[in-house]
Amino acid sequence: MSPLSDAMTASARRKVCVVGAGYVGLPSAGVLARRGHEVILAERDPSRLAKLLAGEVPILEPGLDQLLAEGREAGRLQFEASAAKAVVECDFVFLCVPTPQGDDGSADLSFIEAAAAEISPHLRAGAVVVNKSTVPVGTVDLVTRIINRSDVSVVSSPEFLREGTAVADSLAPDRIVVGADNRRVGMEVAELFGTSGTQVVVTTPTTAEMIKYASNAFLAAKLSFINEIATICEAAGADIKDLVWAMGLDHRIGGEFLNPGPGWGGSCFPKDTQALVSISKDLGHDFDLLTAVIESNERQFDHIVDKVAAVVGDLSEATIGIWGLAFKANTDDRRSSPAVTIAQRLVATGARVQAFDPTVSAKDAAAPDLAGIEICADAYGAAAGTGAVVVLTEWPDFLLLDLDKVGEIMERKAIIDGRNVLDPALVRLHGFSYTGVGRS
Ligand SMILES: NC(=O)c1ccc[n+]([C@@H]2O[C@H](COP(=O)([O-])OP(=O)(O)OC[C@H]3O[C@@H](n4cnc5c(N)ncnc54)[C@H](O)[C@@H]3O)[C@@H](O)[C@H]2O)c1
Repeated sequence: MSPLSDAMTASARRKVCVVGAGYVGLPSAGVLARRGHEVILAERDPSRLAKLLAGEVPILEPGLDQLLAEGREAGRLQFEASAAKAVVECDFVFLCVPTPQGDDGSADLSFIEAAAAEISPHLRAGAVVVNKSTVPVGTVDLVTRIINRSDVSVVSSPEFLREGTAVADSLAPDRIVVGADNRRVGMEVAELFGTSGTQVVVTTPTTAEMIKYASNAFLAAKLSFINEIATICEAAGADIKDLVWAMGLDHRIGGEFLNPGPGWGGSCFPKDTQALVSISKDLGHDFDLLTAVIESNERQFDHIVDKVAAVVGDLSEATIGIWGLAFKANTDDRRSSPAVTIAQRLVATGARVQAFDPTVSAKDAAAPDLAGIEICADAYGAAAGTGAVVVLTEWPDFLLLDLDKVGEIMERKAIIDGRNVLDPALVRLHGFSYTGVGRS
């Protein structure tokens, strides 16, 4: 491991293609343009591309609009529908395409395979293809075989950004990992990001691929661990907030990813934990610990539903308000969102569910994941006439609501705080019953 030196950051401007203008490709392209490279972003989805060409940003990510605007104004950021056309003059090509969960739990590599086949004939000699998507062990070899060009290198450089803070994470990553058989090529990829002082780990492709899965599995396990501890705190009458604070002060543990909640979700942890179980099995090891983490997370969703039932009684007769549908605050991403999962489990009980999220409007109501959920225009609308409101996304907006007004329009003044973001004393002062996670 070595920090990038300033000499390394002074690398020449390169021509870089980013394939896939999603939650990873967009910040990556913006940061590469900020570093002075000429970036061409290939996006095959016509609606995403149209927005980009019109100067808009197709996803919600704080700071991304300014970053992309800066790249455009500097003339260093272009957009193109075809990856085949985009790569022609590029020295580096980053594959940032989806790797969804396949039917058997393993990662579905069809987007990676298709992108590799698409660009292969069009790559210039000496080009370096970088797998930035989260891909299982052996995918550098797979892409190398598909590209089938002795004059092109393929390396792995997994992405660790977090949605909601993706721009800051990409501008100042904790580390840059590159898996490359040729160390010089690996350092060239790391140097593109030119972040002085950032730790760089150049390792084998297999190790780089494992680092990403191990990191996500560890974080998911940490969250499930504290969710289980919260359940024990509830039974014991202990306070999870003080417990987490005290635990986090131990630098061996650290306070991040130690807050209990409604279960983990999002576009990465669910599929990546399943994929690691699958990779492990293929390699002859039963990763029972990780399987237990996944099962624990499933129970956590039901644990929140049980909390609602404990407050309202018969769910099939109840109207429930949901505050938050995005999988976390500061993103519009609802892929495998715990909030949506819990809302759907409530719908399945026969409960009437009405929800508000700042990133979801009436025009989204037809989305398949929102079937059966009434979408409200604001948090008050979601609370109106309900027997309980459940906080499922930690949007700061929910801390600023007029609780007296909320109480007046509810049928029963009850709040279930699935994110532990509200102040229980304040909520009770306004006459509500308060149910948190791991605290009373
Ligand atoms: N979202 C995250 O927080 C995050 C973090 C780290 C790693 N990852 C990984 O990064 C990868 C991408 O994730 P994402 O969230 O950015 O996905 P995404 O679905 O938001 O974006 C992927 C984009 O790629 C486009 N695309 C697919 N094939 C293409 C092709 N051949 N040519 C041009 N465009 C193409 C799609 O239209 C889509 O817009 C996944 O492997 C994911 O696991 C995601």
